[in-house]
Amino acid sequence: MGKTVLILGGQWGDEGKGKVVDLLTEKADMVCRYNGGNNAGHTVVVKGVKYKFHLIPSGVLHKNTVNILGNGMVIDPSVLLGEMEGITSKGFTISSDNFVISSSAHVIQQEQIEEDLEMGKGIGTTGRGIGPCYVAKVRRNGLRMNEFVKTDDPNAQKLKEFVKDTYLIINGAIDNGQNVLLEGAQGALLDIDHGTYPYVTSSNPISGGACTGLGIGPKKINSILGVFKAYITRVGAGQFPTELGNEEQTEGEDRDNGLTREEIEGANNGDEYLQGKVLRKQGMEYGTTTKRPRRTGWFDGVAAKYSIMINGLDGIVITKLDVLSGLKKIKVCIAYEVDGKKIETFPLDKDTLLNAKPIYKEYDGWDEDISSVKSFDELPDKAKDYLKGLQEYLGVPYAVISVGPDREQTMIMDKKILF
Ligand code: IMP
Repeated sequence: MGKTVLILGGQWGDEGKGKVVDLLTEKADMVCRYNGGNNAGHTVVVKGVKYKFHLIPSGVLHKNTVNILGNGMVIDPSVLLGEMEGITSKGFTISSDNFVISSSAHVIQQEQIEEDLEMGKGIGTTGRGIGPCYVAKVRRNGLRMNEFVKTDDPNAQKLKEFVKDTYLIINGAIDNGQNVLLEGAQGALLDIDHGTYPYVTSSNPISGGACTGLGIGPKKINSILGVFKAYITRVGAGQFPTELGNEEQTEGEDRDNGLTREEIEGANNGDEYLQGKVLRKQGMEYGTTTKRPRRTGWFDGVAAKYSIMINGLDGIVITKLDVLSGLKKIKVCIAYEVDGKKIETFPLDKDTLLNAKPIYKEYDGWDEDISSVKSFDELPDKAKDYLKGLQEYLGVPYAVISVGPDREQTMIMDKKILF
């Protein structure tokens, strides 16, 4: 019997999904992406060679895996063709046997990119035309792939052979007992309905988005995994209760300079901006798509519990645990204080969240480099305490814990909820 596993970002995107998706793809017959467009981006390293993906699932690097771009996506044809060329030039095959685009995915048009660059500034969008394309979809005058390929646009002719009714292919694979991986882009807190509106993307990265964005019923999904960094980041503007430092400090920072000893000491003496800088520099927190420095903060447990609830998570993937090494104290936000009152649930009102002050639980940090640790038992005691405390608070099992970008830097915690 095959399984259908859904993997999504539990925070504001950039949780390191790419690596985990790549790991799961080894056992997947099919990988299906259900939302967003080339606002997403991740890098996969295979045998020392870096591959950058914005649209196509990294399953194309695996022989015999079928890769689907779902109807919930918005696709820029020239970006897609560029990505396809990049992949084939490195010796991989892309054919209509291993790559399929939904006939009802929407096509991003040049004027939508221009509109996004103009109108999206306040939100800090990626400027790829994502929002305006979804607006056209909802307004019911968007351009779908099946219509696009009827035009004489040269890109349309090149994509024609890949465009099919994907709901049949995906449901067919599930019904035939294949392993199907469903991949969300961005993260739950950027969801148009459930995220930190209006500072969100225009699609549904949450688990429900997989059903609408692919055309499958919820009962066909066997396990839902949420990926969370051991801290949290966000790009662009918006509510961020556990942010360390502020946006202006972050933007003014020179990304090429490493950390100095004084800065690490400053962080360990309680300077919040420097704590955030340690996370940014050690975690290499700069956008794959936009190169922007990411805003950094402590793990927001309140937001994580919310994410667990709205996604119905069966398991949690923790990434970048190694980035915390060297910090004397590690904090987890377990409640907010708003107007003198303690709240333990995630408020959806923008102003309430903007005014929320985090209430932290503090853990002792560890000094050891944990990037080559292979099992939970080998971790320093302080790292174990942090992970155990976090899991107890969140109430959901760990599926995977990652301590570095390579495939080997991964601890499998619960096989039952993976393939
Ligand atoms: P848009 O998706 O380009 O419309 O941007 C809307 C918001 O989502 C902005 O704050 C972006 O920075 C953010 N965003 C979009 N895609 C990603 C992503 O893949 N990772 C992190 N943030 C993203």
